[in-house]
Amino acid sequence: MERAAEALKYISGGLKVRTLYPAGHPAIMQQVEKSYSLISELLREHKRLMLAMVDDVFIIQDEPNYEASEYLGDFLRMFKEKKVERVTFHEGLEKKEMDGFYEILAAPMNEIRTTEGGLQAAFDSRGLTHIVLERLEKEKRDIDMLARKIYTDALDVLDHVISEVRLGKLPTVDKTQEVISEMVGVVLEDKNAILGLTMIKGYDNYLFNHSVNVSILAVALGEALDLPESTLNDLGIGALLHDIGKTNTPEDIVKKPGKLDETEWEVMQQHPALGHEILSSMKDIHKTSADIAYEHHLRYDKTDGYPFEAIGRDTNPCSQIVSIADIYDAITTLRPYKDVIGPNEALKIMKKLVGTTLNPDYFKNFVTMLGIYPAGTLVRLDTGEVALVCRPNYAKPLRPEVKIIFNLEGEKTASPELLSLEEMGDDHRPERSIVGTVDSVFRDIDLSEYLESAET
Ligand SMILES: [Fe+2]
Ligand SMILES: [Fe+2]
Repeated sequence: MERAAEALKYISGGLKVRTLYPAGHPAIMQQVEKSYSLISELLREHKRLMLAMVDDVFIIQDEPNYEASEYLGDFLRMFKEKKVERVTFHEGLEKKEMDGFYEILAAPMNEIRTTEGGLQAAFDSRGLTHIVLERLEKEKRDIDMLARKIYTDALDVLDHVISEVRLGKLPTVDKTQEVISEMVGVVLEDKNAILGLTMIKGYDNYLFNHSVNVSILAVALGEALDLPESTLNDLGIGALLHDIGKTNTPEDIVKKPGKLDETEWEVMQQHPALGHEILSSMKDIHKTSADIAYEHHLRYDKTDGYPFEAIGRDTNPCSQIVSIADIYDAITTLRPYKDVIGPNEALKIMKKLVGTTLNPDYFKNFVTMLGIYPAGTLVRLDTGEVALVCRPNYAKPLRPEVKIIFNLEGEKTASPELLSLEEMGDDHRPERSIVGTVDSVFRDIDLSEYLESAET
C-alpha cells in the first residue's frame, strides 16, 4: 500500500498548504492534482480506498500503518478534530470532489457545526458522492447518553421546583438554568440526539414528562428559528415551567379523563396567571420565561384563549413557540380516554390550527424540523418489519435510525438494537427501506421502553 501512503502524503501536504494559502492557490492545486491522480490510479485497481483511524492507529485499506502518524500530521489532526473515523474513496471519484474534500477538511469545525446536518451535510451539498464518511460511533453514543441524563435531570429539577411551590416557598432558578443550558448545548450540537426522547410520555405523571418534552421541543424549534443562545435559555426555562401554575390545581382536575365541567374548567384556566405569578417572583428570571407561563394558551390571531383579560395582546414570540410544542406533546400523548396519535397524524391535526391558534411561520419550521419521519413515528419496512423511528437523518431524510418493534412474523421483538436504514446489504443496496407509516399506534406499546434503554 505504498502508493496509498504516497497519495495520503499529498493530501496531508495539501491540507497544510491550505491553512497557509487561500483556496485555489497554485500550491494547493498542485497537491490536489497529485493526490487525485494517485487515488484515481488506486481506485482503478481496487475500486475503493479506505482510510480509517482506530485508537490512534491509521489504517490504510485494511492494514494498520504505524508510520503514518509521522508524516500525516495535518491529516490526522483534522481526522481527530472532526471526529471522523473512516473515509472511503470510491471508484468514479472526480477531481472536483477532491477539491471539495480539501475545503471541508480544512474548514474550521465551528463553521461546519452551524450547518444543519454537520459534516455529512457539507459533503452531500458539495456532491461528494464518491467520498463516504463515517463518524465515530462513540461520539454519537456519548451525546445520546448526555441527552438522557439531561432528560432525567430536568425531571428532577421540576420535581424540586414543584415541591418548593407546594410548600409555599419561592423556588430558585439556578438549577433550572443549569439543566436548560445543558439542553440548549445538546440541541445546538445535535438536536436529533434529544428530540427522540420527547416520545417518552409519563402516563402516571403527565405534568412532569409533558413539561420536559415541551422544553425540548421548544428549544429545538427556537434553534431552528435561529434564536440567539441567551433567548434559547429563557425559552427553555419558560417552557419547562410553563404549567407550573397547575401545581396547586387539584389532581383530580389535572388528571380527569374526558371533558371538564364548568367549574373545573374555570380552575384549570387559572394556571397561566398563577404560573406567571410564581415565575415573575423568582429571582434572576428573564421576563420572557414569565411571559411564556402567562401567554401559552393565547391564540396567535389574538381572538381567543385564556387568561381572558390578556386576549388581544401582542404575545412574546417565545410564547408562540411554546404553544406549538405544548399542543404537539399533548396530542401525541396517550391518555386513558383517548387513542394514541402518531407524529404525522398530530401534525395534520395541528395544521388546521395554523393562522388562528398557531403562528404559521413557526409551524412551518416545526414541521421541517421534525422531518418526514419524526422520532416516534412507526414505519413499515420493505422487509415486512415494523420499526420505530428513533433518530431522524437530516442528510438522508428517508433513512433514519430505527428500532425494529415487530419482526417478520409480526411478533414483538425483545430489546431491539438501534439500526440505520443507510446500512447496505451485500448487494450494495440498502438492507431496509421505509414503505409507509403505520397510523394506529398499538396501545400495548410503551414507546419509551425503546427509547430509554441504555445500550443504544
Ligand atoms: Fe398550560
Ligand atoms: Fe402544557
